[in-house]
Amino acid sequence: MLICKKLCYKVNEGCDLTGAFSFLKFLMTKFCKVSVELVKDKLIIKLCCPRSSYVNETRARMNLIDCVKGVRCVPSIGGLVPIRLTYFKEKGLCIGIDEKGSPVCIPIRWLERHALILGSTGSGKSTTAFKMFSDISFPKLMLDWHGEHHWPNKVDCVNINHLERLNDVEILDSFASSLNLSDAQYYILMKVLQLLRVQRKSFGIRDIAFYVKSLEETSRWMRESKFALLRKLEMLIHRKRCHFTITNLAESLENGLIIDLSEYTEYGKRFVANIIISYLFTQAKNKSLKAFIFIEEAHNIIPRGDEVSVADKVFMEGRKYGLHLIAITQSPKAMSQNAMKNSALKIIHALREVEDAKYVAESIGYPELWKELISLEVGEAILAFRRPIRVLIDSKRHKRASHLGRKSIQSKEASHTR
Ligand SMILES: Nc1ncnc2c1ncn2[C@@H]1O[C@H](COP(=O)(O)OP(=O)(O)OP(=O)(O)O)[C@@H](O)[C@H]1O
Ligand SMILES: [Mg+2]
Repeated sequence: MLICKKLCYKVNEGCDLTGAFSFLKFLMTKFCKVSVELVKDKLIIKLCCPRSSYVNETRARMNLIDCVKGVRCVPSIGGLVPIRLTYFKEKGLCIGIDEKGSPVCIPIRWLERHALILGSTGSGKSTTAFKMFSDISFPKLMLDWHGEHHWPNKVDCVNINHLERLNDVEILDSFASSLNLSDAQYYILMKVLQLLRVQRKSFGIRDIAFYVKSLEETSRWMRESKFALLRKLEMLIHRKRCHFTITNLAESLENGLIIDLSEYTEYGKRFVANIIISYLFTQAKNKSLKAFIFIEEAHNIIPRGDEVSVADKVFMEGRKYGLHLIAITQSPKAMSQNAMKNSALKIIHALREVEDAKYVAESIGYPELWKELISLEVGEAILAFRRPIRVLIDSKRHKRASHLGRKSIQSKEASHTR
């Protein structure tokens, strides 16, 4: 006897279903009858198998695909079609037009291998980044250094609690990447974390500061390092109570989230960015997340130097866990070389400094292109994945999205004054 089941899903554009379809094909060799129907973004799988475990296994595999979401089955439309391996013609993100006026679209799989948006100040980087952010249909986060973007789902401070969910190395790396810790300060933080793990079920940035304060001063170096560290920690704590907590992060990314860092100190901006990237990376490694993170003024968060920052690690390993970075900077030479090497796609706006233009042109393997990089107009860019293409970025959508964001902020303000 065959056990029959109908499974229904909503599938994001550009979703790679090759693995799932291979499994369904494999089931056919196990005497299952399989049919697949795809209408727009609705995928319906009908399975009749000799064993229920095959049906359960199919369901489990589908649940593991981030760009697929299980939905309730409704009566299906049209007839069933046999399995094909490529259901989606990938269009990607259409960001502008080329010199012939044809649309230029970036396939999502390019972005999955990380991207950089480079250019001198005023060249159009943030406009391009925001356009991409608005159009991408995956969970997404923008770390907005200057607070210049408008979006309905925007917060201006984050309550850094529940740090126990990260391991000590991840927490210490986030502090070290943000605060220029001396060896002694690093040691004190390590000791405090050990204490907190034993004495507290849950702890956040305020608890860390409190524990550092209460630490016994057994020597002069200890006293000096402790107070120097405390001064840095106090700069990380936002002056107001933040209602948005770091544990809300993953679910808030579904509709896109912008974190406005502009009200933090420089140390605070770097720390919040680092701890958030670390937090999301841990979740991605636990297989519960796929997301794109846009980082404005990224040279502050992923600086060039000997130390490997939290974001450096995501540039090196994030892709395979489903975490993808789009770093935006006006100072390519101040950016970590990991980011330069591990970003497959570069969107290069005008670079007015000859040295910067030569450096970037060389890094994409077209050293002679530097003259073109210098002479690009505002809103023009060279898109470099394999062969460089000149693109005029379409900013219309950006204006509309910003306008929408502004409207929602205005209506929020209006409702406050009522
Ligand atoms: N594609 C575009 N089409 C038309 N105008 C654009 C385009 N991109 C940017 N601009 C205009 O150029 C100005 C600067 O843009 P933007 O803020 O995006 O630059 P930026 O490179 O991010 O600058 P900064 O380094 O100072 O942050 C804005 O006034 C914007 O309206
Ligand atoms: Mg900008």
